[in-house]
Amino acid sequence: MDLEIIKTDCPKDLPSEHPLPFGKYFTDYMFEMDYTAGTGWHDARILPYGPLSLDPSCMVFHYAQEIFEGLKAYRHGDGSVWLFRPEDNFKRLNNSALRMSMPEVDIDFCLSALKKLVSMDSRWVPEEENASLYIRPFMIATDCALGVHASATYRLCIIMSPSGSYYKNGITPIRIGIEERDVRAVRGGTGGAKCGGNYGGSIRASEKAKLDRCDQVLWLDGVERKYIEEVGSMNIMFKIGDKLVTPELSGSVLPGITRDSILRIASSWGIPVEERKVSVDEIVAGIASGHVSEVWGTGTAAVVSPVGELFYEGKVLTVGDGSIGQLTSRLYDELTGIQWGTKPDSFGWMTAVK
Ligand code: COI
Repeated sequence: MDLEIIKTDCPKDLPSEHPLPFGKYFTDYMFEMDYTAGTGWHDARILPYGPLSLDPSCMVFHYAQEIFEGLKAYRHGDGSVWLFRPEDNFKRLNNSALRMSMPEVDIDFCLSALKKLVSMDSRWVPEEENASLYIRPFMIATDCALGVHASATYRLCIIMSPSGSYYKNGITPIRIGIEERDVRAVRGGTGGAKCGGNYGGSIRASEKAKLDRCDQVLWLDGVERKYIEEVGSMNIMFKIGDKLVTPELSGSVLPGITRDSILRIASSWGIPVEERKVSVDEIVAGIASGHVSEVWGTGTAAVVSPVGELFYEGKVLTVGDGSIGQLTSRLYDELTGIQWGTKPDSFGWMTAVK
């Protein structure tokens, strides 16, 4: 498929706000391509960033047939620009597409279009410490129809935002509220797919958690409300004794690419890694006894985020002394070192943009 390029004649000023906030500013360009059943994907184009014009009856507005991804481009010390595991994001997009009855994309084509997009917008890849270019591919159902069925037409877009830390205080430990009323996903549901509906349904609990000064919500399983699943925008990990323990991918947990990277880094250091059911009772008792000594989240936006406190049944549980644990900090340094090119990329995760 050809890639049409439409150049802008009014490039924007780069943001003057520092540190950069997360997801507030957008680059000069975006990528779009359309899908029609029977024809496949067509009309791939890079064009000036701007509003979409969609019919109000478009199916995405009514039945949330929508999926998305999140990945980042990093500027290295020599000025070069790199993507972290981009093929894995497009593979996960295709898995989400299957769950939501949406069309898969050609991964090689999307990757080359993404590289072109990032190179056209390369001045937007921040030089600021701890900042990167956050990339958001998303696919929407565009049929104009009110019946509930799979759309016959779709649009894939990629937009990009120069961004700093997801949490406004950077790598300072956060407080997470364990949600006792709402659930995020159930077995057989869409929890393992990256679809907007999973996040829309989470907002009521996040807003409630803020009243308890929590930064995010920790979800329990939707059946017994006993096992830990994931946090609002990241997977969760624990240091239990000398092991790294994280909830298994049960189908209702998002298969995080940062999650996988951290598990592989930890295993390569000889740290025993367990992916299994983790009950909230085990964590509450373990924090009290000191057996659970570190808690952190992993995600593209969140990177590796230390959790200093959990809030559960009206009580604050402080993890260790509430500060960043040694393992959390070592994992953060290793992952971000690979991403920013200050440590060797021994897993072959980085892809050069030009
Ligand atoms: C990401 O980490 O890239 C995500 O998509 C999480 C999002 C809710 C900010």
